[in-house]
Amino acid sequence: MASTQHVVVMVSGRGRNLQALIDARAQGKLGPCRMTVISNRASAQALERARQAGLPTEVISHRAFDSREAFDTELARRIDALNPDLLVLAGFMRVLGEAFVSRFHGRMINIHPSLLPRHKGLNTHQRALEAGDREHGASVHFVTAALDGGAVIIQGRVSVEPQDTPEQLSDRVMSAVEVRILPQAVSWLLGKEIRLVDEAVVFCDKPLDSPLTLAHLTEPFR
Ligand code: GRF
Repeated sequence: MASTQHVVVMVSGRGRNLQALIDARAQGKLGPCRMTVISNRASAQALERARQAGLPTEVISHRAFDSREAFDTELARRIDALNPDLLVLAGFMRVLGEAFVSRFHGRMINIHPSLLPRHKGLNTHQRALEAGDREHGASVHFVTAALDGGAVIIQGRVSVEPQDTPEQLSDRVMSAVEVRILPQAVSWLLGKEIRLVDEAVVFCDKPLDSPLTLAHLTEPFR
């Protein structure tokens, strides 16, 4: 029987992506795994979702530290103690420093609401509208020290409609893409179907030329 893996999910906000992981796990789509949720904000709605699901939670407020490095150091210490197989940034709104990132290299992914490499950073939906993009979406990528710059595993696209507000576009990206690609990526990583080798994504032993897409979703995640 496959051994139980440990996924640590880091959150700051509403937790819709976390909920998708909670649901996928409850439905047995992720294989045998336990999940711990860490938030840098005690008031994050994501924490409530974790508690409802009976998951262990920890709060490590960045405000309690004098510097980014001190926060990162404590975060790394607490995560090391959990000995995770995979770290998932699911709406975690703090930039992590180089030391932290290299410690978890190849074991840490992030979901970003744009078609990377377009629109790194914040306010991606507003910026996609301002740029007149016809398509927008979200990406799951390995985390490297370059902000939103690591190798992309999978991304999904939606059309941008002429009347879209940033909120409408954001909701479409969340429901049509984010909550589908993140559980799929976690499943692939836990199943060792995806690995990071020489900064490139290797999928089923072949390096990817371009990110996987919604067309690659396996049956449980469609
Ligand atoms: C998502 O759009 C995610 O891509 C971005 O932050 C948002 C978090 O939303 N990094 P939620 O907390 O999962 O609801």
